[in-house]
Amino acid sequence: MSGNDSFISIEALSKNFGSIKAVDRIDMTIGGGEFFSLLGPSGCGKTTLLRMLAGFETPTAGEIYIDNAPMSEVAPHHRPTNMVFQNYAIFPHLNVRRNIAYGLRALKLSRAEIDLRVEEMLEIVKLPGFSERLSNELSGGQRQRVALARALIRRPKVLLLDEPLGALDKKLREEMQLELRSLQQSLSITFIFVTHDQEEAMTLSDRVAVMSAGKVLQTDTPEQLYEAPRSREVGAFIGTMNFLRGRVAALEPEAVMVEAGAAGTFRVAGAGQGRAVGDPILIGIRPEKLSVSVERPAEGANAIQGRFSAMSYLGDRSHYFVEVDGLDQRISVASQNDLQHLVAAGQLDYGAKIWLTWAPAGAVILAD
Ligand SMILES: Nc1ncnc2c1ncn2[C@@H]1O[C@H](COP(=O)(O)OP(=O)(O)OP(=O)(O)O)[C@@H](O)[C@H]1O
Ligand SMILES: [Mg+2]
Repeated sequence: MSGNDSFISIEALSKNFGSIKAVDRIDMTIGGGEFFSLLGPSGCGKTTLLRMLAGFETPTAGEIYIDNAPMSEVAPHHRPTNMVFQNYAIFPHLNVRRNIAYGLRALKLSRAEIDLRVEEMLEIVKLPGFSERLSNELSGGQRQRVALARALIRRPKVLLLDEPLGALDKKLREEMQLELRSLQQSLSITFIFVTHDQEEAMTLSDRVAVMSAGKVLQTDTPEQLYEAPRSREVGAFIGTMNFLRGRVAALEPEAVMVEAGAAGTFRVAGAGQGRAVGDPILIGIRPEKLSVSVERPAEGANAIQGRFSAMSYLGDRSHYFVEVDGLDQRISVASQNDLQHLVAAGQLDYGAKIWLTWAPAGAVILAD
């Protein structure tokens, strides 16, 4: 984040459509020059939030401040925002130059000035020489870059991007992701980027707000969201997570002892966060924090015994699935081929007993 940490401030913002709470009392601050993503499943309110920022939708309650100015009375074209829409549309009957210049129509500039700024944008989005092409003479990625250029040509302070890469195939999408990121850094514009693709959000963003049903579950850096999700929902939405349910058996200054029925008792690093002995507790463990072994681990280590039930070999690593009595879901383990040699040698069959171990800091305590 650079400059002003609360360049955009969203306060108790809601939008109802009849009985649907599309956006439900959201508070959020976004820094100047930040690449900020809204991530969440279809229908969770991402587009609605973006449209309120742009001024195309009137909030039911709450206020948006941009650069300290309240936006409720400001018309869309007077806001320091511009939007690239979900179903990216460039005008099919206009060539590239006129599509991009469309963003300037309200400014009453001379033809020479317009041409200059269009050329400059074509350089920025890496389409020099394309100004006379029509929409149907462009690839999907090129069309998307024209839409970006049109949104950027008025030099907005904030660019709102609603799943701008959604229609592109995987390879083009990954190329455009890198381009978007370097474009955002070189122009130092604040980007608010909507996606339901968690990998895309993680790759691009300084911070990500994970949304569900009109609310924000957690806002954090990609690393924090992955390493320290606060809830089961976030842990399961960002990557894969194993869950163990238990009770607090003892509280230590820097750790919690968790008793999880037949699965055993484990030490989890971290404070009890107000929990008392006997309280229910949910812990989450990422697949790569687990190690698998055939030998019984040392006394005192966090360990569960289970049955080896499936595996997939991925070259650089393997995924193992382990069934544990008393757990309704198989435990998922990602490891660097710990057992591969045994499986290959026919020394480890499905159903065999194996051990899972992890460090106290490898698990996190989650809000239920
Ligand atoms: N104009 C509208 N009238 C009525 N309901 C609406 C309207 N716009 C959105 N909704 C509803 O509000 C909720 C949020 O919609 P929104 O378009 O913001 O979701 P989204 O997160 O952008 O989803 P997607 O990933 O599918 O684009 C949905 O339940 C949707 O049906
Ligand atoms: Mg949407």
